[in-house]
Amino acid sequence: MKTLEELKTLCESCQKCPLGETRTKLVFGTGNAQADLLFVGEAPGEQEDLSGIPFVGRAGQLLDKFLYAVDIPRSQVYIANILKCRPPKNRDPLPEEEDACIGYLDEQISLIKPKMIVCLGRISAMRLIKPDFKISQEHGKWFTRNGYAITAVFHPAALLRDPRKKEDMLEDMKAIKQKLDELEGDKP
Ligand code: URA
Repeated sequence: MKTLEELKTLCESCQKCPLGETRTKLVFGTGNAQADLLFVGEAPGEQEDLSGIPFVGRAGQLLDKFLYAVDIPRSQVYIANILKCRPPKNRDPLPEEEDACIGYLDEQISLIKPKMIVCLGRISAMRLIKPDFKISQEHGKWFTRNGYAITAVFHPAALLRDPRKKEDMLEDMKAIKQKLDELEGDKP
């Protein structure tokens, strides 16, 4: 079994899809390698492509505010994306790009072994929960996939476009914090 660092090194030379040609930096993922809570977004944006770190742009700053509001330190979680490279002009990932990249996320999950996974937005939820996931109706609902508790919340970029969704986001994040506390309470 590889370590996360070894997996990252492998990813850095990935050319499995054409995004390997256009990326500035690979955005592998960041955070606590033993995190109980794993967030999975969609794909790097412009700021992430430049820095190599997920969720550092405007959407990421909003995510940080919600984490702060419910008292989940970013240092306690791990954050990754479905795609490790930025799609041109932030278009939605193509199915073949997801297929090429998803094995890396699967390996990250096996190495981190989180207690719960939170999909950020519909693209992540459609890949990790079910293909017909409806984010407006099913955000905040819990599912089990491969033995992991998994849910989805609105993507922070969607909250920037429609601030009315922020109330739902806060409720979902509070429930995530509560579940996290319960699961961590089970620790020996
Ligand atoms: N949006 C995402 O889905 N992921 C990032 O890393 C940044 C913005």
